[in-house]
Amino acid sequence: MTLNEVTALGSLTVAAVAIAAAVLHLLAGTAAGVLVTVMALLAAAVAAVGCWLVRHAVARALQPVERLRAELVAAADAEPGARVGVPATGDDVERLAGRVNLLLDRLEISAAQRRAFIADASHELRTPLAGLRTRIELALDDPDDGDLADNLEHALDDVERLHRIVEDLFVLARLDSGDLPERRRLDLGALVESEVAGRTSAVPVTVKAESGIMVMGNRSRLARVLMNLLSNAERYAVARIEIQARAVGEEAVVEVHDDGPGIPPDARERVFERFARLDAARSRDKGGSGLGLPLARQIAIAHGGTLYVANGTYGARLVLRLPLAPDPP
Ligand SMILES: Nc1ncnc2c1ncn2[C@@H]1O[C@H](COP(=O)(O)OP(=O)(O)OP(=O)(O)O)[C@@H](O)[C@H]1O
Ligand SMILES: [Mg+2]
Repeated sequence: MTLNEVTALGSLTVAAVAIAAAVLHLLAGTAAGVLVTVMALLAAAVAAVGCWLVRHAVARALQPVERLRAELVAAADAEPGARVGVPATGDDVERLAGRVNLLLDRLEISAAQRRAFIADASHELRTPLAGLRTRIELALDDPDDGDLADNLEHALDDVERLHRIVEDLFVLARLDSGDLPERRRLDLGALVESEVAGRTSAVPVTVKAESGIMVMGNRSRLARVLMNLLSNAERYAVARIEIQARAVGEEAVVEVHDDGPGIPPDARERVFERFARLDAARSRDKGGSGLGLPLARQIAIAHGGTLYVANGTYGARLVLRLPLAPDPP
């Protein structure tokens, strides 16, 4: 209710009381029944006018909200980019309209990301599927062809690539929904050692891992992070890979450093986007699908940690940071 309307209602009440007092004075000598009836009529009149004023005031106060609602309904059916008007009233309605537009921005960004993701995923799956189909057709066309074994081997490569992409997408979807398998106290330094020992790299790999860097983690997911970082380093390294695992303050820090072409500063966040590959030609030669780093970062985040590309004087330096596990009781 506005100030004017409150003042009007107050004045009306005062007037009614004044009239009532005057009437009382006039009817001082009349019967009590008549007096009560006049008073009741007056009270009813004041109440009716008061109700009307309140309804009117509420309807007026809700007008901007109603306008906002109508604009929102129209925006839902309009082209992307439609927004509600923000009145410069400096009140809650202005703030609400601002929030609504912010929400519409976010919804549009997330819808665009989803569309891009589906397009990228379909494209990535289409390539090995097409390869697989060609191999099978060739084998069926001429089953006695001496290349059959070769064809099947290539078909198996395509199946493996498909399997890897689908598996990565599955793990990403589970991480997106906040699902992280059971975590236990584990020694990250020992895990680094065992992951490196289990690989054969074309370039020498140096490992400096402290023991007893305890974190609360899921072994297979963390092994996956290390595997993705190591396979990238192996893919791009020219002559060496250096790996360090140590405790720094409250964190366990693992660095994977190679002496390859490195990741330019302006691409250091982009490489964590799903299906992002920096140099399309180079990556196609090297055969990655662009899910390794996004997956590794999601796992790091699910463990309360971070994964990023750090500055370095040469090559690429990927850094994983995880909170150290508290000492057991
Ligand atoms: N150590 C590195 N040196 C140089 N570039 C790198 C390195 N690691 C990643 N990149 C760049 O970042 C991109 C994304 O890496 P990511 O691991 O996510 O995908 P990928 O290796 O191409 O494919 P996938 O890991 O799914 O097999 C790579 O395609 C490459 O362009
Ligand atoms: Mg990779």
